[in-house]
Amino acid sequence: MSLQRIDTQPFDDQKPGTSGLRKRVTVFQQAHYLENFVQSIFDTVNPPAGATLTLGGDGRYFNREAIQIILKMAAVNGFGRVLVGQAGILSTPAASCIIRKYETFGGIILSASHNPGGPDGDFGIKYNMPNGGPAPEKITEAIYTNTTKITQYSLIEADDIPLDVIGEYDLASMKVQVIDAVADYAELMTSLFDFNSIRSLLASGFRIKFDAMHAVTGPYAREIFINQLGAPADSIMNAVPLEDFGGGHPDPNLTYAHELVEVIYGKHAPDFGAASDGDGDRNMILGNHFFVTPSDSLAILAANAKLVPGYSKGLAGIARSMPTSAAADRVAKALGIPCYETPTGWKFFGNLMDAGKVTLCGEESFGTGSNHVREKDGLWAVLFWLNILAQQEVADNEKPSVEKLVKAHWLKYGRNVYSRHDYEGLPSTAASGVIKHIQDSYKKLTGAQFGRYIVKTCDDFGYTDPVDGSISLNQGVRILFTDDSRIVFRLSGTGTEGATLRIYLEAYEPDASKHHLDAQVALAEMIKIALEISELKKRTGRDTPTVIT
Ligand code: G6P
Ligand code: ZN
Repeated sequence: MSLQRIDTQPFDDQKPGTSGLRKRVTVFQQAHYLENFVQSIFDTVNPPAGATLTLGGDGRYFNREAIQIILKMAAVNGFGRVLVGQAGILSTPAASCIIRKYETFGGIILSASHNPGGPDGDFGIKYNMPNGGPAPEKITEAIYTNTTKITQYSLIEADDIPLDVIGEYDLASMKVQVIDAVADYAELMTSLFDFNSIRSLLASGFRIKFDAMHAVTGPYAREIFINQLGAPADSIMNAVPLEDFGGGHPDPNLTYAHELVEVIYGKHAPDFGAASDGDGDRNMILGNHFFVTPSDSLAILAANAKLVPGYSKGLAGIARSMPTSAAADRVAKALGIPCYETPTGWKFFGNLMDAGKVTLCGEESFGTGSNHVREKDGLWAVLFWLNILAQQEVADNEKPSVEKLVKAHWLKYGRNVYSRHDYEGLPSTAASGVIKHIQDSYKKLTGAQFGRYIVKTCDDFGYTDPVDGSISLNQGVRILFTDDSRIVFRLSGTGTEGATLRIYLEAYEPDASKHHLDAQVALAEMIKIALEISELKKRTGRDTPTVIT
């Protein structure tokens, strides 16, 4: 084994986005590309001698190669030990769990989340802090600055580590511990949820279907749902992780999880359906012929949290990203707890959780989680729902139903009708032109009338972190109407090709006789207003979204 110092030159495109550095696999395969970024991480976080690193990824194409490279670099960059998931696998929430449980110095997670994988797909890398959460902006900025100045990286020349075999290996003076990727996470789940009552629910004939989308949650779902909760084997689908996710787009929404959607809206539909994304942090919740919006899901978990052992003492507060609907705010108000509104990106919840200000967090982008880890957590959300449904069965003495639970919630709190329209693959200049146009014109909109809607105020969302005072500006333009409806425009920060414009639509409906309406019908007028305000057709030639959630 010998230490190598390799001369290199900066790449000009290594600025991390909403969730780490995401690029095409072919970009990462360029000589020195991954190494430059990893060295920039290590130079930024500057581990104390002998520190432990957590390492794993969602198993996508290039995961194994990247892990071998990172191990060889960690060995000569101050680390004394690396905990790596077997086969190089760790779901994002499991990585967060391991960082916290073993108090490691931090972690590197290899994933491009819900983006497609394979040789022509995407790859990604991000750094998580000792609290288990994504690095805050000041760290990712510092990493980026280092990538613009790098001249050299170090690694050790050595044989690859046998990642498939649990055990401890030497890499120069560093120890590599290949650990069971599922066990610690599964144990954490049993400490939060009432597995006995979920087991009884499943034994009573309540049928579930979980779609792992050929991504990382397959082994986790098998252990938890089948082995521990006794669900029949056909309760999980696409449960074998594949490097290219079977050619699919592992994003749990109505468009990309169509296989599950067909089952849930088909004959003999199960009582409950759920899916998770590439790295296991997102979730979609469905009932028999019924879809739960992520915004409603957060509100319903919050309203029923006391039924779940891990949350029986109540919640300190709730946080949601700005574009997420205000359904959770209504629950927070009823519970007498604060509700925080943050920019998009899970990293903004970290400080609030560390400071004990919030317990549950959620985003419209199919992310829900709590302070049990510092990432959103797909399977956790599924178990939370099942735990609540199991308690509902006990209370009502009849088969629980997702639809019934959601409708009872709307009856009590009113319904925040919600939808997001995505325009993917827009030329970047046209997309920023749309945002610029909205930014330039929104100030003149106050008081304007569009049909039955009158604009109350407009702004470009800015956030001051209540814990560390850091400020994030220009996080999305909000058009707020007098009846609590709103339209939000923002550009996605996670895409790798062109630009994605997101239009978030929300209307508050207190009238229960209209709660059954399809969101697209209920929001039809708002959709027209959004197109008018943004001049989308004129500026991009498009007026039909590629994805509706
Ligand atoms: C990732 C982040 C989330 C974020 C989502 C949407 O999943 O972890 O926190 O909400 O991306 O980001 P985007 O910028 O594409 O709307
Ligand atoms: Zn993800």
